[in-house]
Amino acid sequence: MVGSEMLKILVQRQFPVDKVRVFASERSVGKQVPYNGQSLHVERLDESSFKDTQVVMFAAGADISLMYGPIAAEAGALVIDKSSAWRMKANVPLVVPEVNGGDIADNEGIIASPNCTTIPLTMILEPLRQRVGVERVIVSTYQAASGAGRPLANELQEQTEAIAAGKKPEVSVTTHQLAYNVIPGGWKPQQYGYNEEEMKLVNETRKILHDPELRIAATCVRVPVQVGHSESVFIETRDAIEPEDVRSLLEHAPGVMVEDDPAARDYPTPLDVAGRDEVFVGRIRKDLSAEKGIALWIVSDNLRKGAALNAVQIAEKAIEMGVIK
Ligand SMILES: NC(=O)c1ccc[n+]([C@@H]2O[C@H](COP(=O)([O-])OP(=O)(O)OC[C@H]3O[C@@H](n4cnc5c(N)ncnc54)[C@H](OP(=O)(O)O)[C@@H]3O)[C@@H](O)[C@H]2O)c1
Repeated sequence: MVGSEMLKILVQRQFPVDKVRVFASERSVGKQVPYNGQSLHVERLDESSFKDTQVVMFAAGADISLMYGPIAAEAGALVIDKSSAWRMKANVPLVVPEVNGGDIADNEGIIASPNCTTIPLTMILEPLRQRVGVERVIVSTYQAASGAGRPLANELQEQTEAIAAGKKPEVSVTTHQLAYNVIPGGWKPQQYGYNEEEMKLVNETRKILHDPELRIAATCVRVPVQVGHSESVFIETRDAIEPEDVRSLLEHAPGVMVEDDPAARDYPTPLDVAGRDEVFVGRIRKDLSAEKGIALWIVSDNLRKGAALNAVQIAEKAIEMGVIK
C-alpha cells in the first residue's frame, strides 16, 4: 500500500527522477504497477538490486529493511526506510522534515521515517513545544485498517460486504472481527501492559523532539476505517496558552491545517482527510483536568503523510541539503 502511494507521490511532486525500479517478493515478480502513465515491471529483490541507485525507499516490513538496508547503503544509495527496523538506532536519524529535517545531515546511509501515528503528533507538538514547552502528553489513536497493510484493508472490505449480504464475516488477519467493531490491541505486547505500537509512539516522539524525558503515554486502537488515522491528544504545557492562541499557532505550522468549528460541525474526519497531504487538527479546547492543558483531535492520511509522503519529503530535503547529489 505504501509503495503504490510512493509512486503516485513521486509523480505528483515532480520528484527529479531519471529512472524508477520497483521490487517486491517472489510472489509479485512480473506483475505491472502503474507509474506516471506507464507500467513498471515488478522485480525480485536481491543483493544486487541496488547497483547505480541513488535513493532506495523501503516499504516492505522491518525484516526486509534489516536485511537489505545496509546492503543498499553499502552500494552507495541513501536508504529511506518506512519500517520500524532502524528508527531507534543511535546512528540513524528519525525524521519528520517539518520538525527535525536538520537531523538528516547526521546520517550514515540510512534515514528512518517514523510510525504513521508519530508523524502527525510531532507536527502538532513541535510548534507548541517551541512556544510554551510541552510537559506531558496523553494520546489515544483511532487507526485505519490500511495502517496494517493490504491484507487487513482487504479483510475489512470483505467483512463489511459479508455482513451486508447477511453472511458471517471471516476473520483471519487479526484475532477479532474489525468490521462493526473497535479493537484496542493486535500489536506485540510489551512491558507494563503496553504494546509495540504504543511504545513506538512514545519512543519515536521523544527522539524526534530531542526530548528523551518527555512524559508521554499512549493507547492505540484499530477502527473500521479504510484510510486515515485519528488521535485524541491531551497536552500539558509548561506555560499557559489559550485555545485560540493554539489555533493561530497551528494555522501557521508547516504542513498543518486547522479545521475547528464544532458548532458548525466542522472538524476533521478520516473520510475527508484521506488523499490529503496535510495533518488536520480540530476540537482545540482547554483540558479541564489540568491547570495548563490543551486537548485536541488530529487526523492524517496514514499512507501519505504517515508514510509515503514523509519518505519522499525526506528525499527532497536530502537533495536540498546536498546529501543526495
Ligand atoms: N500502511 C501504513 O499506513 C504504514 C505507515 C507507516 C509505515 N508503514 C510501514 O511500511 C511498510 C510497508 O507497509 P504496507 O502497509 O505498504 O504493507 P503491504 O501493503 O503489506 O505491502 C508490503 C510490501 O512488501 C513486499 N514484500 C514482502 N516480502 C518481501 C520480500 N521478501 N522482498 C521484497 N518485498 C517484499 C510485498 O510484496 P508482495 O506483494 O510481493 O508480497 C508488498 O509489496 C511496513 O514496514 C509498515 O510498517 C506502513
